[in-house]
Amino acid sequence: MKYINKYIEENKNRFLDELIELLKIPSISADPNYKKDVFSCAEAVADSLKNAGADNVKICPTAGYPIVYADMIIDNSLPTVLIYGHYDVQPADPLELWESGPFEPIIKKTEIHPDGAIFARGACDDKGQFYMHVKAFELMMSTNTLPCNIKFMIEGEEEVGSENLSDFVVSNKDKLSCDAILISDTGIISNTTPSITTGLKGLSYLEVEVTGPNRDLHSGLYGGAVANPINILCEMIASMKDEKNHITIPGFYDKVLELSNEERKKMALAPFSLDEYKQALDLSDIHGEDGYSTMERVGIRPTLDVNGIWGGYIGEGAKTVIPSKAFAKISMRLVPNQSDEEITKLFTEYFKGIAPKSVSVSVNPHHGGEPYVAPTDILAYRAASEAMKETFGKEPVPVRSGGSIPIVALFEKELNVKSILLGFGLDSDAIHSPNEHYGIFNYLKGIETIPYFFKNFTRMFKEE
Ligand code: BES
Ligand code: MN
Ligand code: MN
Repeated sequence: MKYINKYIEENKNRFLDELIELLKIPSISADPNYKKDVFSCAEAVADSLKNAGADNVKICPTAGYPIVYADMIIDNSLPTVLIYGHYDVQPADPLELWESGPFEPIIKKTEIHPDGAIFARGACDDKGQFYMHVKAFELMMSTNTLPCNIKFMIEGEEEVGSENLSDFVVSNKDKLSCDAILISDTGIISNTTPSITTGLKGLSYLEVEVTGPNRDLHSGLYGGAVANPINILCEMIASMKDEKNHITIPGFYDKVLELSNEERKKMALAPFSLDEYKQALDLSDIHGEDGYSTMERVGIRPTLDVNGIWGGYIGEGAKTVIPSKAFAKISMRLVPNQSDEEITKLFTEYFKGIAPKSVSVSVNPHHGGEPYVAPTDILAYRAASEAMKETFGKEPVPVRSGGSIPIVALFEKELNVKSILLGFGLDSDAIHSPNEHYGIFNYLKGIETIPYFFKNFTRMFKEE
């Protein structure tokens, strides 16, 4: 559709400038030092929706950070699409590994992004991606082509578990009623191989604490005679996987939905090069559960990983000490039909059970979330698939992702609506890492593809 490309061509510099302004706001939800910035980011998002032409723009307060709501209801007999995204970002540290300031966006060309990419925290996850929807909405409003009703819900606590959003959804079911949920907070295989995410993992995240002696001890006077909690913690963690890299927690795999050989064969058709994968990460070999490919390990198998481990003396030089305590943060990524509450319980029982009497242990659960799978035979998926086919010239490949967006399973449970994960990021865009970036090609391609989704979905909805 010509008017789409024309509008984007005429406005792309402004689209970029506006995103750059949004990226300057350090809306880090995890760090209370940035509280004011997170609130002011919500204001900026609300203003952008107003300027794009939305009605009922509201900054809805919660017990934490606000949810920005807006809509444009043109006709109640037409379908409604709910756009979800998040304006909060991950902390930027380690700062010294950034080539430019995380909140001083700059455009640089890279091998993968020859047209340039915007470097800043949140560029891809998720400001650059949800803002595509604001601009696509502006495009449809300005060209009089919005074919159906639209609602926006942009939250500020995704990176810390969306706890207040859950309450908001439960108590605003009517306000949020819709026929499809559209989310751009995932990725595509590459800029020449579009894909749609059809699965997200669930998450059980917890912190463990192992206590040995009641105080730090001289490692000569006591070493070898009392339990060292760091040694013990390492042994306990190591024992959670066997020689085949299966997780040893009893019952862990009991509910895992195994894929049929047919489904696995289909999955293996998605283009993937192990050599390129290793090269991109400077690895001489990969690692993972026996009997599964890399794509399967990421997409359909549950995992257990230590995210951080600490204790004892980590300052300059040497200090001979047996610490009193050791700690670790551990995440388990879950697949259908595992439940995060159940897995957290299994982990806790097992961890307590394998601790020797010489230490005491505690387990503190953090946030969790249920896994999600999207069927490929529903209207909204077909509408998205056709939209990508039109703008990329190629039919997108369905891909199960290893990432989590816990609220998506809650949307299904509470609103009874499936979400379509129409993301445009690349794995190499370094989300959550230093030097996060988002391709200008990807940003504009998203703005171009979204109006096609609306048009296709509305047409298919009327045909049903
Ligand atoms: N957008 C990501 C999730 C994602 C990225 C899914 C790429 C698929 C592909 C989201 O912002 C995120 O980081 N989620 C967290 C979970 C959350 C509870 C902190 C995650 O996956 O670690
Ligand atoms: Mn995200
Ligand atoms: Mn994220």
